[in-house]
Order: sequence, then structure tokens, then C-alpha cells
Amino acid sequence: MTARIIDGKTVAAALRTQVAARVSALPFRPGLTVVMVGDDRASLTYVRSKDKAAAEAGIDVHTLRLPAETSQKDLTARIAALNADPAVDGILVQLPLPAHIDSIAIVEAIDPAKDVDGFHPVNAGRLASGRATLVPCTPLGVMKLLAHANVPLDGARALVLGRSAIVGRPMAALLLAANATVTLAHSRTRDLPGECRRAEVLILATGRAEMVTGDWIRPGATLIDVGINRRAEGRLVGDAAYDSCAAIAGAITPVPGGVGPMTIACLLENTVVAAERRRG
Ligand code: GUN
Repeated sequence: MTARIIDGKTVAAALRTQVAARVSALPFRPGLTVVMVGDDRASLTYVRSKDKAAAEAGIDVHTLRLPAETSQKDLTARIAALNADPAVDGILVQLPLPAHIDSIAIVEAIDPAKDVDGFHPVNAGRLASGRATLVPCTPLGVMKLLAHANVPLDGARALVLGRSAIVGRPMAALLLAANATVTLAHSRTRDLPGECRRAEVLILATGRAEMVTGDWIRPGATLIDVGINRRAEGRLVGDAAYDSCAAIAGAITPVPGGVGPMTIACLLENTVVAAERRRG
């Protein structure tokens, strides 16, 4: 079997068009501030992409670039000012932050109503208890790809590989809310290949280049690869060894061009959702 390709670029483009239409119907421009501390290369690339996409959707986006030596106190004060600014609907603090900053405390300083990343414990708690909330962009994007590809989730056996707060945990909560039978597996899981082979829907979010090979895949399974890893020679690869997995899976997302574009499109959607809720 050769897997059907789930094209994230096309689905993301459609979502961005939809968000732009929603923005143009509003009597105000939703405001988004992206906070970036230091000059991590990969983060800069992500921040620029977010800025460009938000501007194209008609969002009033600002990037607040702060020096790497910014203190916890200064950063917290900046967040407090953004919380208090009525023109700001969404606040995104790009992670990772420099090592001297307590990232968890910074995320907790963001007003949950403006937390377009969905990382604040109030939003994480709402998601875990099955209530409507701002949902982290990458897992939200995965759910939209699954819906687009008509992948049945009700009663399906789903496995999420990776237990990060940004992807794995919220991903498991969303799949559970969609009535899947969810396994959240990680580096300490016994017989990882065997666990993966049981899954009808497999979500990879380990950040380990090409660790999952075709012999881990149940024939016909849907494989969603959240990983974006750069090989030494510069090539981007996912957490799946693409060719060997695509030979066994029923459907698969490519890297790049799978989940990645959905993350940004969902950020735009979350910004509009936050703006509509805040401003009634
Ligand atoms: N760093 C890597 N992914 C993300 C993300 O989704 N949001 C933020 N704020 N930082 C990140």
C-alpha cells in the first residue's frame, strides 16, 4: 500500500482564507503581540512566519523583540502591560526562553483570555476537563487535518507518542474528547513499536528524527507527524522515516507541508476567537 498524503499546506491555506474573511467582518482589527526574547535562529524564523501570516489575515500584529538578558521582572512587567492593553487580543511568548527565565511563571503571567497558545494552566485545565477554551495550535491543527481527511476517531485506537505540554498532552485530551481510545506513550514506554502497531491513528511528537519506521505501523493506519527535525546536511525530516512508513500507512502527513502550516493557521484562528470573545 502507498499512503494517501494529507496535504497540510492546502488545508492551512483554506483556513487562513476563512480567518481573513472572519477578520474583515469584524468592526475592529484583532490585535496580536508576539514576544521574542533573545535571538534563537529557529525561533526567529517561526516568529517571522507568524508575523507575516497574521498581517496577511488582517490581524494587527506586533513583534516585541527583547534582548537575551531581559530579566524575569522586566518580562513579567511587559506581559502585565499587554494584559492591560485593550487593543491586544492575543499574546504569544515564543518558547524556548533564555535559561535564566522561569518559562512557566511567564506563561502563568499571561491573561488566560489572551493566551492564544493555550498554554496557560487555566486553559490546559479547561481542555483536560473537556470544556471549550483556547486550544494549543499544533494539536488543534492535527484535529483539523484528521477531520479534513475523514479519519474516524469515535472508538478508534489512537496513540500519541510524546508527552510534552505543548503537543502530546493537549493532543491526548483532544482525541479523548473526540471519543478515541487514547494511549499517551513516551520514551519510557515498554515495547514502543508494539504499542504503535496497535494504533489506528498514530500521532508522532517526539522531536527525534526518523525514529519511527514502517515496521512500527499498523497497515492502513493514519500517521500524523508533528516532528520538524533538521538533519546535519540541512534537510528537514519528521519523527517518521517517511518512505518506509508511507509504504505501510493508509494516510500520512509529509514534513514539511503537513502539520507545520496548520500550527500558524490555528494561531490566527485562536487570535480571532480570543478577539470575538473579549470584545463580545
Ligand atoms: N516554540 C515552539 N513551538 C511553539 C509554540 O507553539 N508556541 C510558542 N509560543 N513557542 C513555541
